[in-house]
Amino acid sequence: MRIAVFSDIHSNLEALEAVLKHAGKRGVDQYVCLGDIVGYGASPVECIAFLQSLPECPCVLGNHDAAVLGIPSSMKPDARKVIEWTRDSLSVSALNYLQKMEDTIKWGDITFCHSNPYRPRHWYYVSEKTYISSSFARSRAKILFVGHTHVPVAITRKNFFCIYIRSPEHSMIVPAAELNRQIFNCGSVGQPRDGDSRASYLIYDDRSSVVEFYRIEYDILRAAEKILAAGLPEIYARRLKNGL
Ligand SMILES: [Fe+2]
Repeated sequence: MRIAVFSDIHSNLEALEAVLKHAGKRGVDQYVCLGDIVGYGASPVECIAFLQSLPECPCVLGNHDAAVLGIPSSMKPDARKVIEWTRDSLSVSALNYLQKMEDTIKWGDITFCHSNPYRPRHWYYVSEKTYISSSFARSRAKILFVGHTHVPVAITRKNFFCIYIRSPEHSMIVPAAELNRQIFNCGSVGQPRDGDSRASYLIYDDRSSVVEFYRIEYDILRAAEKILAAGLPEIYARRLKNGL
């Protein structure tokens, strides 16, 4: 099976369409969304509708999705402003869709979550050493897929104490290790923050045991213009162009 794993869409329809078009040409059997469908961007209604239209796309809850549902989550004032705008924009059925999302999804020895596998609603960043170690120690997953940081990364734990971290580039293929445990962060579809403004996602192939990382060009200007036209904070339009 080939599974496209993507996260942190943040109401960016242009980026989401580009990623799913790319994945669709690569023999994907299944999609998994790691949350933060909404927040920051101007197309929450369209992004939720698009995901609902996919036949196989379970989705876990992100902190921005949770904030729209009224679940406490610390956030900067500008981000909070977009959350309130998003809540007012969504239909009852779209809110119900967010409400039904799980904190984690477990398929055999693979776990999918937005932030971390052991306290999913504490929204830790599994880029800090302590949370990387705890994610390995407090989860049994052999492979863990996360989002939330908006930065793609491949982390491998060898010999229990040694942790190796790689920053993947476009089209980079990382073997899923037979003996070691790994954490893969798929980066962000709709608001990358590693200095590369292209949308980020990955495909996990369980037959050939590899993870393929991709960066995808999309219409950044259009997504940014929609943010400004909606009266949302200008910083979120600028971040799309900077990739930071
Ligand atoms: Fe996010």
